[in-house]
Order: sequence, then C-alpha cells, then structure tokens
Amino acid sequence: MKADFLVIGSGIAGLTYALKVANRYPDKQIIVITKTNSDETNTKYAQGGIASVWDVQNDSFDKHIEDTLIAGDGLCNESIVDIVVKEGPERIREIIAYGAQFDKDDSGTYSLGKEGGHSENRILHHKDITGQEMERALLDALSKTKNAQIIDHCFVIDLITQHHLGYLVTKSTLDIECYGVYVLNAHTNAIEKILSTITVLATGGCGQVYRTTTNPTIATGDGVAMVYRAKGRIENMEFIQFHPTALFETGISPSFLITEAVRGEGAILRNKHGEAFMVSYDARKDLAPRDIVARAIDNVMKRTGTEHVFLDCRHLNHQKFSAHFPNIKARCKSIGIDVFKHLIPVAPAAHYSCGGVKTDEFGCTSIRFLYACGECASTGLHGANRLASNSLLEAMVFAERAFQHSVSLFESLGTDHEHMNNQLKVPDWNALSTGEPKEMILITQSLKELQMIMSDYVGIVRTDARLTRAMKRLDLLYEETEQLYRSTKVSVQLCELRNLITVAYLIVKGAQFRKESRGLHYNTDHLAKAQLIQNIVL
Ligand code: FAD
Ligand code: SIN
Repeated sequence: MKADFLVIGSGIAGLTYALKVANRYPDKQIIVITKTNSDETNTKYAQGGIASVWDVQNDSFDKHIEDTLIAGDGLCNESIVDIVVKEGPERIREIIAYGAQFDKDDSGTYSLGKEGGHSENRILHHKDITGQEMERALLDALSKTKNAQIIDHCFVIDLITQHHLGYLVTKSTLDIECYGVYVLNAHTNAIEKILSTITVLATGGCGQVYRTTTNPTIATGDGVAMVYRAKGRIENMEFIQFHPTALFETGISPSFLITEAVRGEGAILRNKHGEAFMVSYDARKDLAPRDIVARAIDNVMKRTGTEHVFLDCRHLNHQKFSAHFPNIKARCKSIGIDVFKHLIPVAPAAHYSCGGVKTDEFGCTSIRFLYACGECASTGLHGANRLASNSLLEAMVFAERAFQHSVSLFESLGTDHEHMNNQLKVPDWNALSTGEPKEMILITQSLKELQMIMSDYVGIVRTDARLTRAMKRLDLLYEETEQLYRSTKVSVQLCELRNLITVAYLIVKGAQFRKESRGLHYNTDHLAKAQLIQNIVL
C-alpha cells in the first residue's frame, strides 16, 4: 500500500489532521490506521471537556496562560503555551462546524465548567461524555470525504527508516527519514508495508504501563516506543499524570473516571473519618492542580491505611448534577452508589503522559517526514504537569500546525524526489526465522509483572532505591521479551508488551536523571527543585 499522507491513530489528533489533508487534497491518498475499532481511543473516554478562553468578559488569554504555566511547575515552553491558548478557540470553532455539540445554558450561551488549576470557568463540555461527542463528529466528517480511508484492526509494528535500507542509523544520525511503516493487518493476517510521503504519529498515551489506569487497553505507548527504536528523540517521560479521582472498584480495569468537573461543581474529597482533607494540603483545596491533589490523596491513603478516599457530592444541586453528569450518576448507581446519598470511593489512577515524542512548534519530530501530535507528542505545553482539559485542545492545535507544515513540505517535493526513490528500496518484512508462539500466557504474565513494577516503584511518590529496583526488574523483562520477539511469530500482544517495556524504561530513566521533585515527578530523596534541570531528552 502507498499513501501520500499516512496517519497512525484515529483519536482527536489523527482525525483532525486527516480531515484537513483530505479536504485540502481531494486527489491524494490519505490512510488512517487504527489498531482496533476506529473509535476505540483515549479521546472517546474524555469526560470533563476542552479548556479554552470563551467567556471574554471574565476570562482572558493571559489567565489561561498563567494557569497552564503554574500547573506546569516551571517547565512549560512559554511560546508553545501562548500558541495553544491563542489558537485554541479557532480550533474549537472548527470542530463545532464539523458538528460537535457542546452544552449550552438556558440563554443559549455555552455553559463553561471548571476544573483543578483553572482560575476561571472555561471548560466546554458535552455532558460528561465530551470526548465521545468530539470523536463522533470527527469520524462523521471524515466519512464524508472521498479520499481518506480508515484501516481498522491494523497494528503498526515499526517505522521504516534508512535502517531498513541497510544503513547504520544511530542516535547521532542527523538525517533520519521515515518512509512509512510495517503493520500487522488483522484483515489479511499478514505483515505488510505501507509506504508514505508524510507520516503522522497520533498514537495516544501509555496508561497501560500501570496496573491502575483510566486509559483503555489500546494505550500502550506504541508511538513513543517506535520512535525510540528508530533513534528519534523522546523527552520528559518521567511526568506521568495520575488522575486523583478514578472510581475505586476492585478487579475492574481500566478504572472509570469521575471527572474533575465534579469537583469544579463543588464536590469535596473526604477521608475515611468523613473529614475534608484538602484544606490541609493546598489553599486551592479540592481544585488545586492534579499533581497536588493526587499526592495528597496518596498521602491520606497511606496514613489511614485505606485503598481509597471518598468524593462527596451529596450537597450538590441534584438537578444540575443529573444534567451535567448523567453517565457518572448511572455508573455509580450500577454498583449500588446513589451519588446524592452515598460517598463515592475514589483513588488516583495513571491517566496521561505529559512527555513523549519531542516535537517543535509545527509537530516536526527529530525524524524527517515524521510528525507527531496529540498525547504521544511532547510539545512543551504541559511542562511537569498538564493543566486539566488542555489535552484535547493541544491535540487540535498541533494537528493544524502539523498540517500546515507538512503540506508545504509535501508541495516542495515535486514528483521525482530522493525520498520517493528510497521508498522503492524498502524491503518486505523478514519473518523467516520466527515460529508460532508456544505460550501466550508468558506474555500476559510479563504484562502483569510490568504493571506491578511500575505501580509499586514508579508511582506518585518515588525514591532512588525504588527506581533502581524498578530498572533491575525491567532489565530482566526486557531480555526475556526480546528473546521471545526474536524467536516467535509477531503478535499484537507481544508488540504491545515490548512497547510498554520500552516506555517503562524511558519513564524510569527520565525519573533517575531528574534529581529534584517537580510537578508530577516527586522523589523523596530529592525534594528541592534544581533550577538547572530542564527537559530530559532520551
Ligand atoms: P487517542 O485518542 O488515544 O488515539 C490513539 C489512536 O492511536 C487510536 O486510534 C489507536 O488505535 C491508535 N494507535 C495506537 N497505537 C497504534 C498502533 N501501534 N497501530 C495502529 N494504531 C495505533 N483530556 C482533556 O483535554 N479533557 C478531558 O476531559 C479528558 N478526559 C479524559 C478522560 C479519560 C478517561 C482519559 C483516558 C483521558 C482524558 N483526557 C482528557 C485526555 C485525552 O482524552 C487524551 O489525551 C486525548 O484524547 C488523546 O488523543 P490522541 O488523538 O492523541 O490519542
Ligand atoms: C477529567 O474530566 O477530569 C479529565 C480531564 C483531563 O484529563 O483533562
């Protein structure tokens, strides 16, 4: 297969980009690849909404910028923050034009929610299923284009670079180029190559590296791992965001989220004695930035010997709550919790990767012809901790910027160029020396082991000793998995395990390099902030 524009991922980032190129070039071939169903993405599960300056009477770009910088704890790239905040409203108007609906109040103006770290109400939402609505609108719009094709159940194994043409490619190679990808296509059960002029990574997050996560099973950090294997640059992977309030249910994975917007409406966190505890941790109480609230909950759970704390919604306006959060109310009810009578048990869960594939202000990665946007990218917006509801916004802003940059690159190439000639030399996948997997259970067990290591040693609170221990355990898992990869037929499960181990390694390595506590990285052996440690690039 061959594409002019190849997009890996059908979440908000990938679909936004694909729509733009499909509309710009009706005669060009656009392929979107997605590893399971086209709507099974982190995007679909987004609840709270999308942050943007909408109420210009009370809010301003400066306030949104300041809130983002405060949450990011000194590590945000200020010019990127400026770009995202100022270009955000235009991107939202675009998705509204594609058909996405956001809730309005009785007077017909958009109703704006609030979340932790925001100084104003600025979260546009569609009840408590904002992501589902945005995903629907984008998929609908893309289905109306004639030249964009989504290939579902198609798993990208690796990026194709000069390495596959027989050249030595190392971290110091300056001109690495991407020619497309190798995929495991469930429709043909074969490993195929898809060649492309422009490739866009929009592969989402990596929450599955932890035992408890809000992320669906597709979130295995594949994009980050692929770029790392291709010798591209990855940064800031130590900043894994734990959402403070996932519904506590033993044996259920992924965890169901109780959106921060519920605290925005006035819900209060309480310990097992019913005491509101956030007041002892931060002046902003329950609406402090996420890193602070998650750490406070972790501390309360450790001190009181409990596996969760409680969220109290009993005092909130019932009618308003039911209208804004019908899905949460129903989910709680399904397990016997009446949110107006009972406290909701909640605990932190791995939620978002602030770091990722290092990109510039146009989504360019360190590999030519390869762009990245959405959660897999590290644009500099989030710094050491993402401000709530800035992620959907960032994905749309950088899909647009990658679109702008990549079309000018595409148009500069002409019809006969070296990149195209190199594509012709790409060999088929070599699977000669691999046999059928004998024990799939080994893969499942290794995955559980990996998630345990990461949750036990590389969670909300870290120490040097825990990180050392994690790295040692990861080394062993890495050796075993590489051996399996070399000797058995490629499967999605094996590739995902391999990718998760790589991502875990990058998280631990970043955490070991960062000899300070900042934002989401909290190490009790290095509590002071060291001003000199900027972004950690691996
Ligand atoms: P995704 O939407 O995750 O899409 C990734 C795509 O890549 C999928 O199509 C997947 O199949 C594909 N893919 C991955 N690897 C491969 C591979 N190897 N081969 C082929 N395809 C592949 N953010 C907000 O701003 N506001 C919110 O209210 C909010 N709420 C959230 C609630 C939950 C429960 C979760 C989990 C996240 C929430 N977030 C929220 C974060 C936000 O939803 C995500 O960061 C964002 O949707 C990521 O979009 P994306 O397009 O980058 O990736
Ligand atoms: C939430 O709704 O609490 C999640 C928002 C986010 O992850 O930005």
